[in-house]
Amino acid sequence: MKTFDDIEVRRPALAKSYLGLIHAQPGRPLAMFAPRRVGKTYFLDHDLAPAARQAKSLPVYADLWLQKSAPLEAINHALEESLDDVTVPGSEVGRLARTTVRKVGALGASVDFGDAPARRPLPSAAELRLDALVVRLAATAGKPILLMLDEIQALGEVAGGEKIIATLRAVLHKRRDILKSVFTGSSQETMVRMLSTAGSPMYQFAQLLDFPVLGDEFLQQLADHFAEVHPGKSLSLEDLRRVFARIGFKPGLMRDLVKSLSAEGLTDVDAGVKRFLLEDRQVVGWSALLQPHDLFERAVLLTIAQGLPPMGRDTLDTLATVQGSRPTVAKVRAAIERLRRAGLLVKAGGGPTAVDDPLFAEYLQGRSLDELK
Ligand SMILES: Nc1ncnc2c1ncn2[C@@H]1O[C@H](COP(=O)(O)OP(=O)(O)OP(=O)(O)O)[C@@H](O)[C@H]1O
Ligand SMILES: [Mg+2]
Repeated sequence: MKTFDDIEVRRPALAKSYLGLIHAQPGRPLAMFAPRRVGKTYFLDHDLAPAARQAKSLPVYADLWLQKSAPLEAINHALEESLDDVTVPGSEVGRLARTTVRKVGALGASVDFGDAPARRPLPSAAELRLDALVVRLAATAGKPILLMLDEIQALGEVAGGEKIIATLRAVLHKRRDILKSVFTGSSQETMVRMLSTAGSPMYQFAQLLDFPVLGDEFLQQLADHFAEVHPGKSLSLEDLRRVFARIGFKPGLMRDLVKSLSAEGLTDVDAGVKRFLLEDRQVVGWSALLQPHDLFERAVLLTIAQGLPPMGRDTLDTLATVQGSRPTVAKVRAAIERLRRAGLLVKAGGGPTAVDDPLFAEYLQGRSLDELK
């Protein structure tokens, strides 16, 4: 039987249009940025990779966050794994063909289909290795590569990140016939900052796209399944839309929310969010996010959640009560930077610094500093 967890939205048309953009601009990657948890990785995995395969490309996925300290090695590792996959045939037929067809004699001449000629080892310097791997993989697979680099902002947070960007850029340009690329990330700001210290604006390097969030096609499925489980009851699409926006268009979270309504047969979605905010599970999660931050940082986070200008006179007065004396602007700035690095705060476009997760912001708005101690 279908459950809420089986509900998914596939976006083949979006994937196809992205591939079209990539092919129209050889050497220039697409960079899609969107807030956390809205479905970027899911899209790469379920929509873009299959569309690339269908278009006779070889998709290769690398998560740069997983090996934050060595992102170039993470990319090379993904390419190497993929090279293994295409070199070692998985199917029985492939294996037989490889081991038994050794020599075919024809009028005295013989052609050797056996082992591939020994190749020079790949260079060990990561920059050269990337280039060599791309060439070897594309040649072995007999297809162009679509390199999908997830969490690209990790490059902005590692020492030598600019050098890696320069390497990527050079390889993407040099190998533009056999290598296409898509970046995704949750912090456009980090990337933009890094590229401008590397001396080139982001738009020159990559085409920036705002990744579209899910919409009615997702919400309608949730409502339909709810109606199936609870005959005679229904969730209004309009309520679902409003709440989806309120929680920052996060499909996983929205699904959990509807599941919790369903468990009790409730249909008031807004009231559901309120209850959801205070569920133990959520509160434990929020506390874990706060845990690494000292009281001063928590206080700064709280003032930002409440929409106060963090350097404003009133804010500094409030913060003075936390540490006994008025903090310096530099201290507030340093706290904001740490909260930003932890992913709790973002600076959207040129706008003010805000709490990244709107639901977390809502939770904080309902708290006093004493409750966050
Ligand atoms: N198209 C979709 N249909 C159904 N559910 C989805 C879809 N896209 C995302 N989700 C749900 O949302 C969750 C978060 O998606 P995903 O991990 O792709 O987000 P993300 O933007 O990559 O997040 P992060 O910034 O944390 O990497 C998934 O686990 C999945 O449950
Ligand atoms: Mg992701």
